[in-house]
Amino acid sequence: MKICCIGAGYVGGPTMSIMANKCKDIQITVVDLDEKKIAAWNSNELPVFEPELLEKVQKARGRNLFFSTDIDKELMEADIIFISVNTPTKTYGVGAGKASDLTYVENCARRIGEVARKAKIIVEKSTIPVRTAESIRKIFLANGYGDRFQVLSNPEFLAEGTAVKDLEEPDRVLIGGEESEEGRKAVEVLAGIYEQWVPGGKILKTNLWSAELSKLAANAFLAQRISSINAISALCEVTGADVGEVARVIGMDSRIGSKFLNASVGFGGSCFQKDILNLVYLCEYYGVYEVAKYWEQVLLMNEYQRERFSGKIVSSLFDTITGKRIAVYGFAFKKDTNDTRGSSAISVCKHLLEEKAHLAIYDPKVSLQQINKDLEIEEEKIIYCKNAYEAADGAHAVIILTEWDEFKGLDFKKIYKSMLKPAFIFDGRRILNHENLVKIGFEVYSIGRGKKSRY
Ligand SMILES: NC(=O)c1ccc[n+]([C@@H]2O[C@H](COP(=O)([O-])OP(=O)(O)OC[C@H]3O[C@@H](n4cnc5c(N)ncnc54)[C@H](O)[C@@H]3O)[C@@H](O)[C@H]2O)c1
Repeated sequence: MKICCIGAGYVGGPTMSIMANKCKDIQITVVDLDEKKIAAWNSNELPVFEPELLEKVQKARGRNLFFSTDIDKELMEADIIFISVNTPTKTYGVGAGKASDLTYVENCARRIGEVARKAKIIVEKSTIPVRTAESIRKIFLANGYGDRFQVLSNPEFLAEGTAVKDLEEPDRVLIGGEESEEGRKAVEVLAGIYEQWVPGGKILKTNLWSAELSKLAANAFLAQRISSINAISALCEVTGADVGEVARVIGMDSRIGSKFLNASVGFGGSCFQKDILNLVYLCEYYGVYEVAKYWEQVLLMNEYQRERFSGKIVSSLFDTITGKRIAVYGFAFKKDTNDTRGSSAISVCKHLLEEKAHLAIYDPKVSLQQINKDLEIEEEKIIYCKNAYEAADGAHAVIILTEWDEFKGLDFKKIYKSMLKPAFIFDGRRILNHENLVKIGFEVYSIGRGKKSRY
């Protein structure tokens, strides 16, 4: 059997690498329009950083895993085609700022219709609005490709930073298909592939619309938990409660559970915001306006948290940060990834730059080019540092924006000595030992805990 996956990004690359490791009898080729990305997948400098991913790629690459730009050839030969292209928020026209831009998915559907010869099953791996499968089918039908294809929805639930583990041991695999005999047959073929490493009980089979909506709903629920604990963190800071203690109490209720209750400077990533906006758009489209407003609030709370954090930095540093060096620890949207899409670091840094601060930024995995692109600034507007100590040297404040493990093990006495006094730390991820920092002499502000200092 031959599989072709269109899109060699954060989902297509890792997903197919794990599938190739688990199903050695299937030949898998990941294709992309981006030649540089494909070259990187064929090298040892992968375009995606994920723990253990390189070893997985190296094991399968050249055996039954291939990366190519020869899209038409692979589409022509494949038995199953996965569409794993980007579905960003639309920036223009109807639905701008909310709806998903389906241009890339539609382009794939048209190309598949034109060139695919063997393929019978088209799998939507990208996250898309409910009823997109219907649109794809319409394109096939209207162009005379007829009933040759079955469209399945198989949304991906991996989390960046833990993608390899999530793909090897998923909580569940979801496959939605048409409620017809051919539809059910196609679902079984795809389920048969996953069954090679996922227990049958974890493979959920639903109708197409449920599968498409479940992905949006799952991300909305995850983001909502973060916004809920962040909302409580704001209240903790003004009342003297500690959000860590509150979260522990809430999380021990087995009906609630302890995961995703870490208050922070806000969630980021390419998915939560985009998928909730998409959900809001769908609600408005179908006329359920109260539901739209409910979910929109999750995003407003996230923005509020970011603004609150940068506001706190400015007010603590005596209401001006003009010309002050501020060490920024972390730029990726979470630890163990080089992805900066939607990172809270982007909004916080932009705000601090507007206030004319001098930012000294250190992230273990994010490049200077990426930071400049995200902040929409010229070369040399920020100081790009090779390590955390260099960033803190001569700084008024250190701010933690990503929860990289290495920040927990830093020598904060050394950092304190190299900074201007009073030396401030703003812990946007609640990863440091605040009591110790206060003993060293720092003025510490932490999300959900407020200010701690000797004075
Ligand atoms: N990143 C995540 O953690 C995550 C998790 C679950 C689901 N998703 C969803 O998966 C989808 C892909 O996300 P991603 O993060 O991998 O995106 P990405 O931007 O990293 O990768 C998408 C790739 O598709 C390629 N592409 C676009 N149009 C193409 C075409 N016509 N032919 C060939 N290649 C084309 C692009 O060049 C790009 O390399 C999105 O819908 C996203 O919402 C992402």
